[in-house]
Amino acid sequence: MDFSKEYAKKRFFWGIKPNKSVVFVAGLLSRGKALDIGMGEGKNAVFLAKKGFNVKGVDVSSEAIKKSAILAKRKNVKILPECADIKNFNFKCKYDLIISTFTLHFLPKKKSLEVLKKIKAFTKPGGFNLVALFIRENSKCSEAMEKRFGLYLYEVGELKRLYSGWKIVKYAEKKELDNSHGKAHYHNVAIIIAQKVK
Ligand SMILES: C[S@@+](CC[C@H](N)C(=O)[O-])C[C@H]1O[C@@H](n2cnc3c(N)ncnc32)[C@H](O)[C@@H]1O
Repeated sequence: MDFSKEYAKKRFFWGIKPNKSVVFVAGLLSRGKALDIGMGEGKNAVFLAKKGFNVKGVDVSSEAIKKSAILAKRKNVKILPECADIKNFNFKCKYDLIISTFTLHFLPKKKSLEVLKKIKAFTKPGGFNLVALFIRENSKCSEAMEKRFGLYLYEVGELKRLYSGWKIVKYAEKKELDNSHGKAHYHNVAIIIAQKVK
């Protein structure tokens, strides 16, 4: 799904407050190198930079990249934005923290799993991942949503299984109210915070 039209507007489509889970994970480690996969307008990347992390943020939308630079300037921090498709993104180095909030379900499932594999591989031992994504519910509603918005939902329990062998700090599957844009609505989401075992 292309959010560029919204990102080109002055207002921040997703707001400028970091996700609660990002605030939580930032408290688990003191600085380091962080990567935000599908950073959107940069609310989480800028927050992490403000906390002292050296942050790279990747998004396929050039409007998202521009907007993240505006937010970083406003908050007086530097981030390293990169306009790239995460399906072909070259990670180059290992990170202390990699986050990806509400992005992986936009990739065809095979690609999404490949990216997740890289996210895990490019995390330093002892480092953290935070991944949030939409999951399927047992109803026709999920199928309709997948078709309408071009989503590839994860199955119930799948994200947790993919982190077997890691220390699971937090895992939740829940209905989450989304009032960041349009009419308030719910999504079925899975959120994991996991630490790579040393
Ligand atoms: C729902 S937004 C979430 C933005 C941000 N992570 C947040 O939580 O506010 C999903 C973002 O993923 C980006 N995205 C989708 N597919 C992508 C891809 N293949 N490569 C890079 N970014 C992608 C979109 O441009 C969009 O900014």
